[in-house]
Amino acid sequence: MRSSVLSFPDRGKWGKNSWRGNCSGHVYKNLFEQLPPSEIVDPMMGSGTSIDVAKEMGIDAYGLDLHAGFNILRDSILERVGKPADLVVSHPPYGGMIVYSGNVWGDPHSDDLSRCKDDDDFHEKLQLALLNQREATLGGGYYGTIIGDWRRQGKYTSYQAECIARMPGNELAAVLIKTQHNTMSDSKTYASMKLPLIMHEYILLWCKPKVIMCYLQDLADLAQQQQRRLTGTWRNIVKQVMVNLGGKAELKTIYDKVAENAPDRLASNPNWQAKVRQVLNQGRDMFSLVERGVWSLAA
Ligand SMILES: C[S@@+](CC[C@H](N)C(=O)[O-])C[C@H]1O[C@@H](n2cnc3c(N)ncnc32)[C@H](O)[C@@H]1O
Repeated sequence: MRSSVLSFPDRGKWGKNSWRGNCSGHVYKNLFEQLPPSEIVDPMMGSGTSIDVAKEMGIDAYGLDLHAGFNILRDSILERVGKPADLVVSHPPYGGMIVYSGNVWGDPHSDDLSRCKDDDDFHEKLQLALLNQREATLGGGYYGTIIGDWRRQGKYTSYQAECIARMPGNELAAVLIKTQHNTMSDSKTYASMKLPLIMHEYILLWCKPKVIMCYLQDLADLAQQQQRRLTGTWRNIVKQVMVNLGGKAELKTIYDKVAENAPDRLASNPNWQAKVRQVLNQGRDMFSLVERGVWSLAA
């Protein structure tokens, strides 16, 4: 059945049982049966589960990994494989949940995605990995990733949400939920925890357009999409501040309230006061200048 929820308690005979954080071969089998691709690339193959499944199904398969000398942050998948594939699917580390280099294999490697310095570093590098996968995908084919979220020390990080937000919105093709079985946290006691244990992962699939007019234009579109999101966020921050101030306020009061409400945004933008003025001046559908230095929400 074609369902967006997958559950396979058994991981099957493919790949290596002992490879920490590996994925059930049945997930790949299900995916390959549904699409079905004529060749697949897994640029972070780990113990090779996806490759074993594909080969068994008669699908051409190319497996790459940092432990085998391929670095998705520096090497082109397309160049390494030599031709685009109709499915390029990865299963990256989930942040530092399981550290691979120097632990599961070999020596510590600074480009190992499980050794990122923080969440922002990981999100940015995973976006680069997905763009590399996209480049190696045949027009009309699929690129995707299997990823879980992570809660540690009370902080929830949604890697899947970041992936969706950072990739072209018009290419998102499917979001599948995969039930997780036998997780490490499963066996621990979380007596005092109010929130549910994370018992699922995601399979995210994007479809690459059949025709891409110009590679650089294509990436510029993605940057513009991100810019629009950022501008929209700033407009909403200022609008929420205005709502909070009763719909009318002096510029100085707006600055104070923005500083109180949006510390993260401010830290990343040293020119935030200019940004607030720009949002007010350019958002005349939302904001009106009532008198010098005093703004209100537009009627
Ligand atoms: C979750 S494991 C993949 C497990 C695999 N699906 C399996 O069933 O065995 C993630 C893999 O990503 C690889 N990796 C981490 N950083 C990488 C990088 N920069 N380039 C390529 N592979 C990387 C790790 O070496 C690890 O094998």
